[in-house]
Amino acid sequence: MASERLKLVIMSDLHLVPEGEVSNTLDTAARLAAAVDSVNINHADADLCILAGDLADLGEADAYVRLRDIIAPLTADTHLMLGNHDDRRVFLQVFGNGFADQNGHVQKVIDIKGHRVILLDSSEPGVVEGVLCPSRLDWLQARLDEARDRPVIVVLHHHALALSMPVDTIILRDSAALLAVLCTHPDVRQVIAGHVHLTTTGVWKGVPFTTLAGGHYNVSVNLPSHAAPQDRLEGPGQYAVVLADDDACVVHFENFLDRHTVIAANNFGRQRASRR
Ligand SMILES: [Fe+2]
Repeated sequence: MASERLKLVIMSDLHLVPEGEVSNTLDTAARLAAAVDSVNINHADADLCILAGDLADLGEADAYVRLRDIIAPLTADTHLMLGNHDDRRVFLQVFGNGFADQNGHVQKVIDIKGHRVILLDSSEPGVVEGVLCPSRLDWLQARLDEARDRPVIVVLHHHALALSMPVDTIILRDSAALLAVLCTHPDVRQVIAGHVHLTTTGVWKGVPFTTLAGGHYNVSVNLPSHAAPQDRLEGPGQYAVVLADDDACVVHFENFLDRHTVIAANNFGRQRASRR
């Protein structure tokens, strides 16, 4: 019998700051509050809400306390992850050591609706790039081996698939090792990251990799062929919505700040007679 459809909301790159401060001119607390409202209004049926790292801009305790207050109204079961802007020690002081596994990493698996969701900690204190040390790769391998009978969705902060963008200078260092482990599982449906402040999707040796723009600023697409330098943009303010069942996994990107003008329904009546 087909399993129920799984719905995940993934936020990333919240970059919260203490009260009275802004981050790169942006009021990241107000942006997160808007995201929370949007999720509660539009995705009250979400099974999980995952915050995929860079929770605090500079890892300050006040920012984590503020984070805890702002996400308190989320009705979905909410899980926190760390990114390169976070401070693991301060985070654990505020949220409790129960968030860390026996090796001190903030990671876990969640088995739900026929899937295994793996939250993988790619943060490394003092390092901007992502790191997956041997103990984390071993942990991932073991968690994948346990779930060979079901689809897996992996969430981590750092992007693993190179994007041909300036942000590749701070990519996950151990991306080839990650791919090798992932390729041992027969059914990895998505590997979803934040970090790059850009929406992308791609496939690497058959494994699908996705990044979401997240709640902080967004960067313009800047490939080596672009004439102008990369811009940093104030929007869109984005979270991802993942819909997954036995057969398929779809990722939507919902922009909760940038809203374009709605084209009224009566502007959609122009058709050729042969197409009516
Ligand atoms: Fe990051």
